[in-house]
Amino acid sequence: MSETVSNEIIGTKNPTETVKPVTSKGSAPAFFSCWDMHSYYGESYIVQGVSFDIRQGEVLALLGRNGAGKTTTLRSIARMDSPSVSHGELWLDHKPLHNMSSHEASQSGVALVPEDRRIIAGLTVEENLVLAQIAPPIGWSIERIYEHFPRLAERRNQMGTTLSGGEQQMLAVARALARDIKLLLLDEPYEGLAPVIVHEIASIVDSIKKQGITTIIVEQNAVAALRLADRAIILDMGTIVFDGTAQEVMDNEELRHEYLAI
Ligand SMILES: Nc1ncnc2c1ncn2[C@@H]1O[C@H](COP(=O)(O)OP(=O)(O)OP(=O)(O)O)[C@@H](O)[C@H]1O
Ligand SMILES: [Mg+2]
Repeated sequence: MSETVSNEIIGTKNPTETVKPVTSKGSAPAFFSCWDMHSYYGESYIVQGVSFDIRQGEVLALLGRNGAGKTTTLRSIARMDSPSVSHGELWLDHKPLHNMSSHEASQSGVALVPEDRRIIAGLTVEENLVLAQIAPPIGWSIERIYEHFPRLAERRNQMGTTLSGGEQQMLAVARALARDIKLLLLDEPYEGLAPVIVHEIASIVDSIKKQGITTIIVEQNAVAALRLADRAIILDMGTIVFDGTAQEVMDNEELRHEYLAI
């Protein structure tokens, strides 16, 4: 708590520098690595030395109780101004994110879909998508997005903010895919949605997974997240208490009771 906190990540690495990332468990090298990350909101020490990595195309469920530090971890990876990350390294596809601004991280392929979805008021569905492609790197074409999100195709001329909660979530995910992304960060995509819509969003995330997009999904609905995920990590009070396969979490009743209430 008494440590000096700075907005700069400690370390001397240059953002353009390229080195091989650490090797994750198994044979394939990590596509994304988070090493010993510590994050603060002002004086509040939240993420307390988190390390994990993800292979390309994997879906990782980031789970834990309310206030465990899940959103803070995603915001730290996306290099938002708040929280400040005082220490740690973040590598995506051989590039260091840890000295980047949120804009630079976004240009490098990090896409955060926040819990509140941030649909732009006064724009139609299509205008929201077109705006995402105003500058490179451009990802999926609008046509390809509509193939994957038929509900958005039907509502292309409707104001984005008048969509239902589930449709707004679809639009937020679609807007991320309109950019050429390497790492998709989904913060509670099922929050406040009816089970039938959760099912629909889950099948969209599953089709995104089949396209090989590396994804971190934070969800209170742990069962739904684990169904999609290859791997899971569980956070508790800003530290990782479990890192393994989604199946291992499902098979571990004690772990589920203690940290996930399922
Ligand atoms: N902007 C902020 N300023 C100060 N403290 C914050 C801020 N945002 C979150 N916190 C605190 O940081 C801790 C972790 O919050 P975080 O939002 O990362 O948790 P979470 O795991 O996403 O929880 P939830 O499941 O409720 O979304 C909590 O104690 C929270 O009160
Ligand atoms: Mg959260």
